Amino acid sequence: PEHVAIIMDGNGRWAQQRGKARHAGHRAGVETVRRVIETCGQQGVRVLTLFAFSSENWQRPKTEVKMLMELFFTALNREVRRMKKRNVRLRIIGDISAFSDKLQKLIIESEKTTADNDCLLLQVAANYGGRWDITQAARKLAEQVEQGELKVDQITEETLAQHLSCPDVPEPDLFIRTGGEKRISNFLLWQCAYTELYFCETLWPDFDQEDLLAAFRDYAGRQRRFGRVAEQVS
Ligand code: IPE
Ligand code: IPE
Ligand code: MG
Repeated sequence: PEHVAIIMDGNGRWAQQRGKARHAGHRAGVETVRRVIETCGQQGVRVLTLFAFSSENWQRPKTEVKMLMELFFTALNREVRRMKKRNVRLRIIGDISAFSDKLQKLIIESEKTTADNDCLLLQVAANYGGRWDITQAARKLAEQVEQGELKVDQITEETLAQHLSCPDVPEPDLFIRTGGEKRISNFLLWQCAYTELYFCETLWPDFDQEDLLAAFRDYAGRQRRFGRVAEQVS
């Protein structure tokens, strides 16, 4: 797959199973992120999009949200050097204006220092929601119509898609959700219209290279028809 999108789920349960607090699971999950980036780089994946914090996750207990924000900051701060070494370009997608100034600054800085890297594009979805993404795109189009720059009949799937969060990358080929739940939880709604879905029971901190390669093998056996019939695509 060229573009892999992952819902990293199951950190809380992983910690609870070990009698630890939920944030221990989130911390352990950072290790998995590092492993997955490495394997994706080796396997020739061009874009990796990770769901780190949804627009709905603000509804969690205050202490957990606070821990997640702190972890996001420290992990980002620490991992950027490794990304540079591994030729990984970082991009954050989502409404980052809700984050602290300090975190926003670090995000912008990290994106800037990795901007020339071209082995793998790592997109981290933070305060991201698929509905938010479509809504903000619709607003931009509406503004253009209001300014007289765009006609209503120029609103097409293509022009709308151009205003989504990552218009310059191909849509995900493979979607993976760890942790056993079988839902999309407001991840890349528009972009996943024709994405192959893969669900696995492994909790995110336990998700290892073999689990990822198993997902890739499963994907390799799929036939993507995009509405056509088998004879047309084989
Ligand atoms: C996913 O793990 C990480 C985030 C949502 C930030 P969870 O925290 O949702 O873990 P479970 O689903 O409760 O086990
Ligand atoms: C989805 O996981 C969001 C992230 C992994 C960041 P959740 O654990 O928040 O999803 P639900 O609430 O179980 O659907
Ligand atoms: Mg969860």
